[in-house]
Amino acid sequence: MHNRDDMVGIDAALIMNTKVWESSGHLSNFSDPLVECEKCHQRFREDDNSQISNSQFLISKQIQNSKSSSYAKASEDKQKDKCPDCGGALTSPKQFNLMLKTFLGPTEDSASVVYFRPETAQAMFVDFKNVLETSRKTLPFGIAQQGKAFRNEITPGNFIFRTREFEQMEIEYFVRENDWEKYFEHWRKEMLGWMEDIGVDLNHVHELEVPDGERAHYSKRTIDFEYDFPFGREELYGLAYRTDFDLKNHFKEPPYRDQESGENFYPHIIEPTWGVDRSVLAALCSAYSEDGDRKVLKLKPSLAPYKVAVFPLVANKPDVVAKAREVYQTLKAKSYLLSFVAWDDRGNIGKRYYSQDEIGTPFCITIDYQTLEDGTVTVRDRDTTKQERVSVSDLASYIGEKISNN
Ligand code: GAP
Repeated sequence: MHNRDDMVGIDAALIMNTKVWESSGHLSNFSDPLVECEKCHQRFREDDNSQISNSQFLISKQIQNSKSSSYAKASEDKQKDKCPDCGGALTSPKQFNLMLKTFLGPTEDSASVVYFRPETAQAMFVDFKNVLETSRKTLPFGIAQQGKAFRNEITPGNFIFRTREFEQMEIEYFVRENDWEKYFEHWRKEMLGWMEDIGVDLNHVHELEVPDGERAHYSKRTIDFEYDFPFGREELYGLAYRTDFDLKNHFKEPPYRDQESGENFYPHIIEPTWGVDRSVLAALCSAYSEDGDRKVLKLKPSLAPYKVAVFPLVANKPDVVAKAREVYQTLKAKSYLLSFVAWDDRGNIGKRYYSQDEIGTPFCITIDYQTLEDGTVTVRDRDTTKQERVSVSDLASYIGEKISNN
């Protein structure tokens, strides 16, 4: 985002005025179909295979893939299914709102009910005019925001795949109506490029054109980018053409004036949306590999929690340890390593390599007896396990170059 001239960032409040959620349609439409056990009153997401039986899952998939007539039939069949916990009968699907409610102010009455934002998007619509006036951008341009979103998910789970508090990165890209297809395609490619940049294996990414009747209430076209997670193929990101739905909801008068023609109108919106937690999960799944008994997390260096690890060959030789500490401190001071430099002097070198491989550290540096003689260290590459001798004076630039090229 920072390297694009057509983009500005904002950081809005987590709790916005309730009128925002009334206007956006979230209070009436933001819901999931759930079935409820008539006996123990547990609720289950209709499309969640981890919570409901196989036959139910098949039926819900059938519902997803079907037109309305078979939907009715599938729903009918579903009523015969039993609660996985107590065996009670399940109700037919009902809509449950996902908005996370709380109260603001001294009283806990209906007048003080407020909602945590379920998406970062809406602030970018309600702040559209402020951004326009202060940034003086002209179409096409985008507003971007990263931050927490909250949903009262009934079945959180699958590690960090579905949580009630999660992090989104969204762009609302404002265009003229006639240009929407061009920019939809532009952002489709950008999203694929981003996945590649963070090391998501594109062989496991699938684009799902969301059919009519299954898209969110605001969307005229949506692509879901799905990923083959270990627990099944699930949504990673979304790309939606939201038309002028949002700006029309929030502004009585058209908020944009064309500089040349003087015409006032409502811009249309292309919305690429990314979940940060799902990005991390997909990057971790793509990076995980096994090589015999060695487990290696082949994370891109930019994502690795530690960029380098520094070891003294032995922990009981003060000269070697002191030299290793010096190398460690020098590397920690380098801004491009952001201090993400690990130190390990436990056990033997082999075990240290294995434990750094498991957390994805791309480079391990060992200070040994030869270092004291000729000022060189070994640098071991996580992915090839090859070792090179590099002079201590060249070490920072050697590592810096490797990291920036990956
Ligand atoms: N503004 C559009 C929007 O919010 P969404 O498909 O509901 O669309 C966007 O959410 C992305 O946010 C999803 O593709 C996913 O990556 C992430 N996401 C949604 N719900 C989530 C949850 N409960 N836990 C973790 N990530 C979630």
